[in-house]
Amino acid sequence: MTTPAVRAPQYHGQVLVIGSGAAGLTLALRLANHRRITLIAKSSLDEGATLYAQGGISVVLDETDSPQSHIEDTINAGAGLCDPEVVSHTVNHARECIQWLIDHGVPFTRETTAKGAIGYHLTREGGHSHRRILHAADATGMAIEKTLEQEAREHPNIEIFEHHLVIDLICQQKRCLGAYILDIRKQQVRTFSADHTVLAAGGAGKVYLYTSNPDVASGDGIAMAWRAGCRVANLEFIQFHPTCLYHPQAKSFLITEAIRGEGGRLLLPDGNRFMHRFDPRAELAPRDIVARAIDHEMKRLGADCVYLDISHRPAAFISEHFPTIYRRCLEFGIDITREAVPVVPAAHYLCGGVMTDLQGRTDVNRLYAIGEMAYTGLHGANRMASNSLLECVVFAAGACQDILDKSTDSMATLTLPQWDESQVTDSNEEVFVSHNWDELRRFMWDYVGIVRSNKRLQRAQRRCQMLHREIDEYYGDFRITSDLIELRNLVLVAELIIQSALQRRESRGLHFSLDYPESDDSKPPQATVLTPP
Ligand code: FAD
Ligand code: SIN
Repeated sequence: MTTPAVRAPQYHGQVLVIGSGAAGLTLALRLANHRRITLIAKSSLDEGATLYAQGGISVVLDETDSPQSHIEDTINAGAGLCDPEVVSHTVNHARECIQWLIDHGVPFTRETTAKGAIGYHLTREGGHSHRRILHAADATGMAIEKTLEQEAREHPNIEIFEHHLVIDLICQQKRCLGAYILDIRKQQVRTFSADHTVLAAGGAGKVYLYTSNPDVASGDGIAMAWRAGCRVANLEFIQFHPTCLYHPQAKSFLITEAIRGEGGRLLLPDGNRFMHRFDPRAELAPRDIVARAIDHEMKRLGADCVYLDISHRPAAFISEHFPTIYRRCLEFGIDITREAVPVVPAAHYLCGGVMTDLQGRTDVNRLYAIGEMAYTGLHGANRMASNSLLECVVFAAGACQDILDKSTDSMATLTLPQWDESQVTDSNEEVFVSHNWDELRRFMWDYVGIVRSNKRLQRAQRRCQMLHREIDEYYGDFRITSDLIELRNLVLVAELIIQSALQRRESRGLHFSLDYPESDDSKPPQATVLTPP
C-alpha cells in the first residue's frame, strides 16, 4: 500500500551549506554578512567530529618555530604524497584563520610565561617537531563548535535546519542546483535550491566497526558528490587513532595524543614500554606507526588492549590539562592520575575525499567541498595531528572568497523536479538495514583495517559489491529512512575505499599491505584518483 507523498514547497537560499562542523560553520559565518545562508545538519547543529576534537589546532606561534618547519613536518608525515603547494597555502594562512577564531571568541588555553607575558599554551603531538598545538584544555573542538554555533544561531542571515538529512544533490549538466533533503522529524522530503552548494559533511568513520567518530560520520558527502560526478582521491588512507578508551561502555571515546605529547607512555599488559622497538621517536612517532605497533603487539600477545600511562606526572597537572578525559575515565572507574588507561586503535580520520582545488571547488560547477570530506592534497598518505581543524578553517575561508568573487545568476525562480515517491512502499523488513549495516562495518574492520592484503581486500570487495546491489534494489522499492540513506552511502564509500586500496600496489603512510610491505620508490608517488562512471 503506497502512502501519497507529501508535497512541500521548494525552498531557496543563496548558499546551501551542508554540515555544521568547523568547516560548515566557519564558511557560513564568513559569508553571512554578504549572502543568505541555509545551514543544514542531519542531527543537532553541534553534533559532528568537531565537537569531540580534543588535542587542538596546529599553528606556528612559538618564536623558536617557523612556518617552514610546520610545512616540513606535514610533508614528512604525509609520506611523499602531500601537495607542497597546498601544504604551504594552508600553513601560510594558519595564523589569520586562527586569529579569526580568536576574534570570534574561541577560548583557547592561555598561560603565563616565565617572563610574565600572557600567551597561548601550546602542546605537542606526534610528528610535530615543535610545540605547535593551540588548544582549549582537552576539548578544543567543543570550544570551537559551541562558540561558532552560538554566533550562527544569532545571525539574521543564517537559516538553520537541524535534523534535516540531505539525500542527494540536484545537478543538471554538471551544475549543482540544490538538494533533496529529508526532514527527519516530519518524514517529508523537501527540495532546496541554491546558487551555490557547499558540502561540509565530515568523514566516514562509521564504515568501520570501531571508530572514534560520532554516528553522523557516514560518508554522505563523499557518496553524494560521487553520484553527482565528482572525482575522489586517496580514499585508501584511513587514519586509525592509536588510543581510544577500551571499555565495554565507552563508545568512541578518544584519549588524546596530547597525553603522549606531555609524556604519556604506552605499555604492554606486563607493564613494559614497547614503542622504542618500532621507532626512535617512540610514543611521539606519527600515528600510522604507533597504531601499527599497537596492532602488532596486541596480535602477537593475543591481548585485548595496551595501556597508556601518564600517572608519573603530578595529579594537578593531569586534571588541569586533561579535565575531560580525567572525568570521563573516572566514570568508568579509572583514575588516570594513579593508573594506566586501557586503549585500542580505532578508525579516526579519512585523509582522502572529494577532489578540490585551493578554493574548495569540485568537478561540478557551483559545488564546493570543504573539511574532512575533501581531498585537498594537504595530508598525503598520513595526516599529522591537529592539521584537520586547520584545514577546515583555511579551506572554508578560501571557498567563501571564491563564492564572493563570483557573480552568479540566481536560482530563486527555477523550479526543480520534486522528489518522487510514487513507486515505493513502506518497508516491512527493517532488519535488512540493521543486518547489512553490521555486516559491512565488521568486514571493513577485519579485511580493510590497519594491516591489509590482496586476499582480504578482494574478499571485502566481493561482499561489498553484493551488499551494494541488494541495497540499491531495496532503495528503489521502499520509502527512505535515515538509516537506509546512510547505509546506501556507507556501502558506496566502502567500495571506493577498497577499490583505492587495491589500486595501491605498495605500502605507504596509512596504507599497509602484507603483499607489498615496502614503498615503491622506483617512480614518484601518485595519488589514487577514482573517476565516476
Ligand atoms: P564534522 O565536524 O564532522 O561535521 C559534519 C557535519 O555534516 C555535521 O553537522 C553533520 O550533521 C553534517 N552532515 C553529514 N552528513 C549529512 C547529511 N547527509 N545531511 C545533512 N547534514 C549532514 N582534528 C584536529 O585537527 N585536531 C584534533 O584535536 C582532533 N581531534 C579529534 C578527536 C576526535 C574524537 C575525532 C572524531 C576527530 C578529531 N579530529 C581532530 C578530526 C577533526 O575533528 C575533524 O576532521 C573535523 O572536525 C571535521 O570537521 P568537518 O566540519 O569537516 O565535519
Ligand atoms: C587527538 O587529540 O589525539 C586527536 C588529534 C587529531 O586527530 O588531530
